[in-house]
Amino acid sequence: MKTKIIIMSLFVLLSTSGHGSEVKAIKTIKKLGMSLKTELKNAMKISSQEAMKVCNTQADKITIASNTDLIKVGRVSEKNRNPQSFPKKWMVDGIKKLKAGKVKKPYIVVKVSSNKMGLLKSISTQPVCLKCHGSNINPQVLKQITSLYPEDKAVGYKLGDIRGYFWAEWELK
Ligand code: HEC
Repeated sequence: MKTKIIIMSLFVLLSTSGHGSEVKAIKTIKKLGMSLKTELKNAMKISSQEAMKVCNTQADKITIASNTDLIKVGRVSEKNRNPQSFPKKWMVDGIKKLKAGKVKKPYIVVKVSSNKMGLLKSISTQPVCLKCHGSNINPQVLKQITSLYPEDKAVGYKLGDIRGYFWAEWELK
C-alpha cells in the first residue's frame, strides 16, 4: 500500500514537473529515428542510389509526419547536407555540451523561451551512414549528392562521429 502511494505520488510529481513531456519528446524522436532507418534500410536493399533518392524526397515528409500535437521534432547538423537543417540559436549551447561529453544523460533539455522547452540528442555515425556521409563514397552516389546538394558539407564523417542531432520542442502549459 505504501509503495503504491509512493509510486503514485512520484507519477504525479513527474507529470507536473514537465518530465512527462521530456519522456514524450524522447519517444517521438525514437519514432522518427526508427521510421527514417526503416525507409533507408529498405531502399539500401535496392541500391545506394535508390536510397539517395529516398533520403532526398522522404526525409522531410517522414520528419513532418512524426510531429505530434504537442511535440515538434527534426534533425540538424553543423556539417549538414540539407542547408535547412542548420542548428537554431537555442541549440548552440546544448550542442557544445553534447560534443564535450559534459552530459549525464544521452540527451540534453534546454529552455528555449519562457514557455517553450527543447531537447537535443546526438546521432552517431554507423557503418551504413558512411556510404553517403563517409570519405570513400561511390562516384555515382557522390554525383547525385553534389547535384542535389551543391553546398553539401555532410561528407568525411568517420564511424562513431556525431553526425548530427535530433531535436524536439514543446510548449509549457
Ligand atoms: C543513401 C544515402 C544516405 C545514407 C546511407 C545516409 N544518409 Fe543521412 N542524409 C542523406 C541525404 C540525401 C540527406 C539530406 C536529406 C534532406 O534533404 O533533408 C541526409 C541527411 C541527414 C541528416 C540531417 C542533417 C543534414 O545533414 O542535412 C542526418 C542527421 C543524417 N543524414 C544522418 C545519417 C545517419 C546517422 C545515417 C546512418 C544511419 C545516414 N544519415 C545515412 C543521405 C544518406
